[in-house]
Amino acid sequence: MNRNLVHLISQAEIVRIVRRLAVEIDRDYQDRSLVLVGILKGSFIFLADLVREIQMPIANIEFLRLSSYGSSMVSSGEAKISMNLPPKAIAGQDIVLVEDLVDTGITTDTALRYLQNYQPASLRLCALLDKPARRQVPVKIDYLGSTVEDLFIVGYGIDFDQQYRQLPDIYYLKEENQDEIAEKANYPRRELKS
Ligand code: PRP
Repeated sequence: MNRNLVHLISQAEIVRIVRRLAVEIDRDYQDRSLVLVGILKGSFIFLADLVREIQMPIANIEFLRLSSYGSSMVSSGEAKISMNLPPKAIAGQDIVLVEDLVDTGITTDTALRYLQNYQPASLRLCALLDKPARRQVPVKIDYLGSTVEDLFIVGYGIDFDQQYRQLPDIYYLKEENQDEIAEKANYPRRELKS
């Protein structure tokens, strides 16, 4: 395992967060027909866990692929949609967009605008993590897992240059001043042994 990863959120804590979000969604959508749309690639594990915690029937699960980071640690400033959805999957439906991480907000905002164009009956956002310190575009998160400081997050589907998505826990990449940010936020730190 990589020495540059510092432990941030455990698998057990993620399970608790996902269960809570599923309860909130079940509560709000009872007797309605829910469609979940995951943003690829980062949300694939979160969405897979979330759907298994939601008790109500789910009418459809769709995916939208957007990308803003490439192999850089800094957002490119624009999100490109590289995999579209059939408009009829959205029109007139109650949609919950599922995102792993809202950082600048550009990816999520682009996805929300794209979906809104297809005139859903309703559109809400569920995000596992929110990094408000880096927001460039305002985004309203209806179902939020946890807020994180300005750290480069990996694990549980989230990558750095396509690595680390497979990790069951959430970590941050140890770069200059990342430890300092974590300390100020009182994060517990458990470094991985290589
Ligand atoms: C990451 C992450 C979010 C997005 C958030 O995806 O999974 O979707 O960035 O960043 P933003 O709020 O600054 O737009 P990325 O673009 O790295 O693509 P990926 O999901 O394929 O990893």
